[in-house]
Amino acid sequence: MKVAMISDIHVDVNGSYDIVGSLVQCLKEQKPQLLVLAGDISGNIETTLSTVEAIESRSGVRVLFVPGNHDLWSEDFASAPTEEIYSRFCEDSHCLCGHPFTIGNTVVIGDIGWYDYSFGSSNYSRDEFSLMRNRGRVWQDLLRNQWTADNIARNDFFLHRLEKQMMMQQRDKHFLMVTHMVPIREMTVPNNREDWGYFNAFLGSEELGILYKRYPVRYALFGHVHYRQSIDRDNIHWSCRCLGYHHEWRSSHGLSCLEQIENALEFIEIG
Ligand SMILES: [Fe+2]
Repeated sequence: MKVAMISDIHVDVNGSYDIVGSLVQCLKEQKPQLLVLAGDISGNIETTLSTVEAIESRSGVRVLFVPGNHDLWSEDFASAPTEEIYSRFCEDSHCLCGHPFTIGNTVVIGDIGWYDYSFGSSNYSRDEFSLMRNRGRVWQDLLRNQWTADNIARNDFFLHRLEKQMMMQQRDKHFLMVTHMVPIREMTVPNNREDWGYFNAFLGSEELGILYKRYPVRYALFGHVHYRQSIDRDNIHWSCRCLGYHHEWRSSHGLSCLEQIENALEFIEIG
């Protein structure tokens, strides 16, 4: 069975491109049984949910997703607390959070995940990372997500939530793990690039990758760090399949929106 994977389609930031139409065209051509989106569909819950619905109804392909940090953003915590937005996502029938999905011999398990500063440079202390700002630049979750009041606890919450679901599966199944956050250091940004020695702290958690290695995980899909890369390590296929922002596409300029989506998509065959 063919499963399609992609992340960070950011339909709002990429609003001048027909992201949904191009993705639907790819799905109709490739005919996978399932599309998995690893978060950052948009910066607004209503847009994200309607986009997922539109991709599924127009392509005829079952769509599952986890929210990304952008999907959880709120401009007004009084009327839209982070926890409430997350709960609404969990209730959606396309959302993987708390709802493992079995396809063939594989169980798809997912959630947003969070960050615990483990990918940040040792030149900074935990207190410095908890400020979430460096040299005049602010990590935007600080302004739009209430979980940033205690990132370490939030990361622990997701580690336990994911492991609980992994423990409940039958022993003969393989896992496709889906998070928005990054589970391995190799996929973070080189520390010598701009301020990334500091800002890598907010990309994910080393504990997530360590957790995966204790279970029969075959595939690990994620996004968040807008680089497209897939590597095989420790018997796991690690895939970061971000479409990213249109202004980042310049590294592969000359490609159309459709070609960028074809490039970002990865298809895996599962039994
Ligand atoms: Fe993103």
